[in-house]
Amino acid sequence: MKLTSVPENLLERLALWLGIAPTPISDTHVAFMMARTIMVGAKLGIFEALAQQSASAAHVAQRCGSDTEATKKLLNSLVHLGYLSQEANKDYSLTKLSRKWMLKSSKHSIYDKMMLQFVEWKLVEHYEDYVRHGQPAEMHQVLSDDEWNTYQKGMRAVARVSAWEVAKRTPVPKGASQLLDIGGSHGYYSASLCKKHAQLNATILDLPEAIKYASPLLAEEQMGNRVQYQAGNVLTTDLGQSQYDVIFISSLLHHFDAETNIELASRIYEALKPGGHFIIQDYVRDERVRKGDHLALLDLYFAATSRSGTWSVKEMAGWQKQAGFKASKTIWLRSIPRHAQVVGKK
Ligand SMILES: C[S@@+](CC[C@H](N)C(=O)[O-])C[C@H]1O[C@@H](n2cnc3c(N)ncnc32)[C@H](O)[C@@H]1O
Repeated sequence: MKLTSVPENLLERLALWLGIAPTPISDTHVAFMMARTIMVGAKLGIFEALAQQSASAAHVAQRCGSDTEATKKLLNSLVHLGYLSQEANKDYSLTKLSRKWMLKSSKHSIYDKMMLQFVEWKLVEHYEDYVRHGQPAEMHQVLSDDEWNTYQKGMRAVARVSAWEVAKRTPVPKGASQLLDIGGSHGYYSASLCKKHAQLNATILDLPEAIKYASPLLAEEQMGNRVQYQAGNVLTTDLGQSQYDVIFISSLLHHFDAETNIELASRIYEALKPGGHFIIQDYVRDERVRKGDHLALLDLYFAATSRSGTWSVKEMAGWQKQAGFKASKTIWLRSIPRHAQVVGKK
């Protein structure tokens, strides 16, 4: 998926085609205005203020404790972006888009991801330093206590988008009883998999800083003893021998370099029972960069804010092969673009 300049009339179409339109301005100025407007709308509670009924700018401002004139400008911007509509009497109301994604109470809510983006906003300021010196921001080492909390909630919001499909399509071997979810955080994937497979129990291995804030999120799933935490760093924790039927690792290997991932794949091989599955779930980049491929943007984002970057299927399957896994299979998820599972069987 790609954000792009869409001409609204023939003249603009012509200007774009002839290369007269200053596309870099819409790619940058418009992009950051859009992002900040939507994020601030969520943070100030604009969408919640309109959840029950439409309201005037003055009423919304009163509910949000904000300035009326300034709120009106924000509301108008959100109308422009399709997040609100304005009725004939000038009251503002939610659109289908904001009701589905922005309300905290919606089962599709990505409100928490919007809050995480305030943290990510600060992290991307590091791009210039990263490109100059090659030193990433190492987000897992610099987050404040509050930011760890926001991080875990934001990750769960993203996981909710695909967890139904992950539960349905993840290849869990017949009779499997033990799942290890490395960097499993909020446990939403583990809980979804255990709900789908009645005999399955999960252990989530994550950093103590994450577990502190992730455990109340997991508690909401009411999984009791079936999903438990183990605090530790996967790079130093003993994963054991022939212990698990499935080892699942979602959105973590893009934080580690290739050498680390090869070594980890070998330890995972040892930790799996014969016939066990090693499932890498992540954003997947192509071997060659293509115009319009946002995975190149994500590659830079992960590299600058954490370490490493996105990987191709060939690279991930290569680590599995080197560790001794039989030929890997790729399952492309439909709920999140360019997201796949690379599955190696022991
Ligand atoms: C991007 S989040 C992904 C969370 C979850 N797996 C998902 O897909 O929604 C990465 C998770 O890995 C954890 N993590 C990072 N480095 C780790 C390490 N060395 N050992 C264990 N967990 C780690 C983070 O704390 C975080 O919870």
